[in-house]
Formats: sequence, C-alpha cells, structure tokens
Amino acid sequence: MGALFDFDLDYGNLKPVEMEITMKRGIILKPRVFITRKIPEDILTLIEEVCEVKVWPEEDTPIPRSVLEQEIREVDGLYCLLTETIDASLLDLGKNLKVVSNMAVGYNNIDIEAATQRNILVTNTPGVLTETTADLTFALLMMTARRMEESSQYLRQGHWKTWSPMLLAGQDIFGATLGIVGMGRIGEALVKRAKGFDMKIIYYNRTPKPELEESLGIEYRLLDELLQEADFVCILTPYTPETRNLIGKRELELMKPTSILINTARGGIVNEEDLYEALAQQQIYAAGLDVFDQEPLPTDHPLLTLTNCVALPHIGSATIKTRREMARLAAQNLLTYLQGQRPPHCVNPSVLTPKL
Ligand code: NAP
Ligand code: GLV
Repeated sequence: MGALFDFDLDYGNLKPVEMEITMKRGIILKPRVFITRKIPEDILTLIEEVCEVKVWPEEDTPIPRSVLEQEIREVDGLYCLLTETIDASLLDLGKNLKVVSNMAVGYNNIDIEAATQRNILVTNTPGVLTETTADLTFALLMMTARRMEESSQYLRQGHWKTWSPMLLAGQDIFGATLGIVGMGRIGEALVKRAKGFDMKIIYYNRTPKPELEESLGIEYRLLDELLQEADFVCILTPYTPETRNLIGKRELELMKPTSILINTARGGIVNEEDLYEALAQQQIYAAGLDVFDQEPLPTDHPLLTLTNCVALPHIGSATIKTRREMARLAAQNLLTYLQGQRPPHCVNPSVLTPKL
C-alpha cells in the first residue's frame, strides 16, 4: 500500500463487514466495487489492491442509468460522483451493497433516508475542498462585480475604441458588505478572503454561531435583513428540502439594485426563473453562478443571454490537487468500511455497528 492513506490496511484479521462478505461468497475474499467514472490511476490501483473493481471508463460521459442498474446488483461498494442519482429504486437493486462513497461534500444526489433504511453507509469528502471552493467563490464575486467576462468579450469582439470615464464600470469589492448564507466550512473560509478586502461580513445560518461572531468579527442577521443590507450575497448552504428555492422572487426583491448574488452551493437553492427576471429587469445588479438546477446548463438557457450573469460549469473544487484529494478521500472512506473500520466521513453513522 502506498503512502496515500494514513491508515493501515490489515489483511490478517477479518473485520465484521469483511467477514460478512467472505461468508456470503465462500472462497472469494475481495469485496466487489463499482466506480462510476475514471479516477486517477494511482488511486484506482489502491482500491484494486483490496477489491475486485469495475469502472465506467469514460471521463466526460456519465454512466447511463441502465448500466448502473446492472452494475449495482453484484457489488459491496459503490464509488460515485454527484452526477449520479442514488435513489431508493437503485438501492433496492444493490442486494449486497454496504457502502456508497460519494466523491463530493454535497450529497443531495443520494437518498440518505433510503440508504439508512437499507443499512447502507453513505460517505462524503468534506474539508479537502473547502479552501479551493472558497477561492472560486471569491473569484466569481470579483469577476461579476468588475464585469470581467463582459469586458474580455468587449475587447475580443473589437469594441474597445478608447479609455472612457464610465466604460465597463462595475461595483467596488473593497469595503463592501458581504452576506454569507450558510456559515459552514466554506462560508468560514470565505470570511478569511473577504477580511483581506476590508469587507463588513454578515451571515445567516440555520444555527447562529456566536463563537464565530467573536473570533471572526462577523455579525448574525435574519435572512431578510441580510438580503436588504448586503452588497454581495453568497449562497453556501447544502441543498435540502428546506433550502430548495430559498432565494426566489420575494427574496430577490429585498436585495438592492446594486447587489450581486453568488451561488456556488447548488442550483435548486436559487429559483432560476425568478433570478432571470430580477437580472433582466436590473432589479439586482448581477449574478455569478457555478451551479444550476439542470447540469450541464443547456446552452440556450435564458440566463446565458444576459451580460450581467456569469456562469461557470460547476468548477468550485476543480484544482488538480483538490480533485486528487477528493478522489483519495472517497477511496479511503470506501476501503476503511469494507475492511471493517469506521470511515473518516460518514453521512449516516447510525448504520455503523456499535463497535465502529
Ligand atoms: P457545511 O460545512 O456543512 O456548511 C453548510 C452550512 O449551511 C452549515 O453551517 C449549516 O448550518 C448551514 N445550513 C444548512 N441548512 C441550512 C438552512 N436551511 N438555512 C440556513 N443555513 C443552513 O458545508 P460546506 O462544506 O461548507 O459546503 C456547503 C455546500 O457547498 C455543500 O453542501 C455543497 O452543496 C456545496 N459545494 C459546492 C461546490 C462546487 O463545486 N460549487 C464545492 C463544494 C461544496 P448548521 O450548522 O445548522 O448545520
Ligand atoms: C461539489 O459540488 C461538492 O459538493 O463537492
């Protein structure tokens, strides 16, 4: 085993989950695993050392549902991405399935309740992508406020004739008020960046965090208050039934005409039709979006007709180092559980046996 993992893989003593696999299969010791996309070769090798592995070999094409429905039937572990919908009907086909390892921190693509009812552990990859996603969030904020994409197009399309006092003038970032909706790991990392720009930082979170208010110098607001006060509103909650359409027509109407909305969390949290209207009517100044209700975003989507909307293809965590870390952590979650140990990041730990 290479140095990629910080735990020892112990082949000597069979642990409970491994034992169960062994007994079911008679002579077959290795757990079976299906991986829904091509992952870095060295991380695949590590999984192959412990498991019988099959991989959907494409880099740019998600696995068709019909193929996944076949592959899940035999396996003990599924290593998947946020592009796969893991619902009750799919889980029902996984008669031997013990663990679903999602290579993402968000797990709204998985029916957690259905997995728990079937005693299937779900794991995710928090932490390793926090700083990278905060970087992208702040970059999108800057790009939108300073109209960088629009300006670049202006130059490339030959419209640049002269320097002019108000040409492509945008909004100031330095000294402005940042409103963070969802003060979790990424929200907190965003605060550090905003501090460097001397921003006033207000936040709304399901649970107020007085300890952070003191240590980071941030102030709590109710959601409506935040929307009315902030120059930039950054959405960083998970996507849940409670956060679906958290930002819609009413909320957008509370924002200032000079305010900018940034969403790097999940598409369904902001109502896209209402956002289109607010941007088209210049009821808010601009929006920067990395995530969408439907991904990939269709190229004829109305939002893409607007110059005050910057759209990126869900690249929040996309640096080489961070994507490797996510792939490694997803492998570690999978392998530790299949070897009878407690994985570092369990979404539904209630399915773990008391010993773990
Ligand atoms: P996190 O640490 O769990 O933070 C989420 C925060 O949202 C928590 O503080 C949580 O509050 C709060 N929250 C949950 N439900 C809420 C609600 N109904 N109203 C208000 N606040 C609520 O997660 P994270 O690591 O920062 O990641 C946040 C999300 O970003 C992920 O779930 C994922 O969807 C998205 N993401 C996107 C990218 C990308 O590529 N664009 C990359 C990484 C993550 P409590 O303290 O009350 O739980
Ligand atoms: C990316 O969107 C993630 O949730 O990791």
